[in-house]
Amino acid sequence: MSVALIILAAGKGTRMKSDLPKVLHPIAGAPMLHHALQTSAALDPARTIVVAGHGAEQVQAAALAYDPSIEVVIQKEQLGTGHAVDQARGALDGFDGDVVVLFGDTPFLQPETLSRMVEARQTHDIVVLGFDIAEVQPRYGRLVMDGDRLVKIVEYKDATEEERTIRFTNSGLIACNAKVMFDMLSEVTNDNASGEYYLTAVPELANAKGLSVTAIKCDEAETLGVDSRTDLAGADAIFQARARATLLDGGVTLMAPETVYLSFDTVIGRDALIEPNVVFGPGVTVESGATIRAFSHLEGCHVSRRAIVGPYARLRPGAELAEGVRIGNFVEVKNATLATGAKVNHLSYIGDASVGEASNIGAGTITCNYDGVMKHRTEIGARAFIGSNTMLVAPVSVGDEAMTGSGSVITSDVDDGALAIARAPQVEKPGMARKLFEILKAKKARQSRGS
Ligand code: UD1
Ligand code: MG
Repeated sequence: MSVALIILAAGKGTRMKSDLPKVLHPIAGAPMLHHALQTSAALDPARTIVVAGHGAEQVQAAALAYDPSIEVVIQKEQLGTGHAVDQARGALDGFDGDVVVLFGDTPFLQPETLSRMVEARQTHDIVVLGFDIAEVQPRYGRLVMDGDRLVKIVEYKDATEEERTIRFTNSGLIACNAKVMFDMLSEVTNDNASGEYYLTAVPELANAKGLSVTAIKCDEAETLGVDSRTDLAGADAIFQARARATLLDGGVTLMAPETVYLSFDTVIGRDALIEPNVVFGPGVTVESGATIRAFSHLEGCHVSRRAIVGPYARLRPGAELAEGVRIGNFVEVKNATLATGAKVNHLSYIGDASVGEASNIGAGTITCNYDGVMKHRTEIGARAFIGSNTMLVAPVSVGDEAMTGSGSVITSDVDDGALAIARAPQVEKPGMARKLFEILKAKKARQSRGS
């Protein structure tokens, strides 16, 4: 059966206390909305409709960045989750498949759970996804069951004391035929504690029409809703725990797993070793057998086999390290390619550059890539030796097997095999240091007598 996915993302997220629309708050480097879209891909939806309202432009941009075929409908006023779904009525006019409604603030659904919902839909007209809360909380709609029949959903605010003790709660996910959904929504009123048109009113109305309504259960960790910064931090922690477990299962060594921060798209090959306190921002690939040493920060970069990075290294977007490259402490690499076996071991900045095979970059080397207006490139050949504290003023190139003297400020290209020295020549004054010491000591003695 073809499925139209409706993702609700119009709410303000008042409890987040933020200028950013709630569904754009990131978990592991990607907006919550992207997580929701990613997991719902398991439904293979024919249509995906995002309902936007607060910060609609930003939400729309984020949705289209994820997938340009997503349709965005606007809910001008946030009159409730039922009203939000109703905004897709026009877009789905004539659609005779199922709608599956998903909240943009419940990012962790598992594909198996969605498959179970689809399966339950074969025998029931309406399927709701619920979960058992470990502790009774003053939030979440309660699912009132009679055997496997879902009698109704009561929002916490509207529930009786007795209903509030029910632990089976609403995740927000609901699946049914599109026509059934819009027929039911026409009957939803806002006669409740919040004065909102609740999507959660649909099951009770459907029961009255003699439709069969059920709820299936999933794990709390899958469907917890993000309404506050505390929820957001909790959601990120859940993501991290899962992602670390996946890496460990895949043959990656994490010396102190709980100190490694991963992004939604971090890829690390087997037999890689990750030391404690490493942050992986978005877009990082680390190949098999590479080592990322403690306190390193990586984003948008690629680390090949047997490369060693850190401790205390920073790899920024566009850092591309070939096999066996070494990046040492306090080295920053940005938009730069380092060929096989190249070494930058200490205190350097390599930006907008290419470094050839087996070249060695001395401590304190800087590619001066920015003239205040434009960025320029530095090209270093193979087996070159860049002396410590060399300033490479880009655009500039250093040839294969060339050398630069320590402390040089290199402003013009250096040929293959040449040695370039660009620093003030050394001047030596015999005996001068001793004389200077005597003068200074005598001065100090005069001062202390005078005081
Ligand atoms: C909702 C459910 C509750 C469930 C909980 C699970 C209702 C009435 N309540 O409560 O039963 O246990 O989620 O997390 O459905 N939204 C809109 N337009 C609106 C209102 C909300 O698009 O007018 C969107 C929000 O952006 C959000 C989602 O719908 O993504 C849920 O809204 P939220 O306000 O978080 O509802 P809860 O109070 O969490
Ligand atoms: Mg919520």
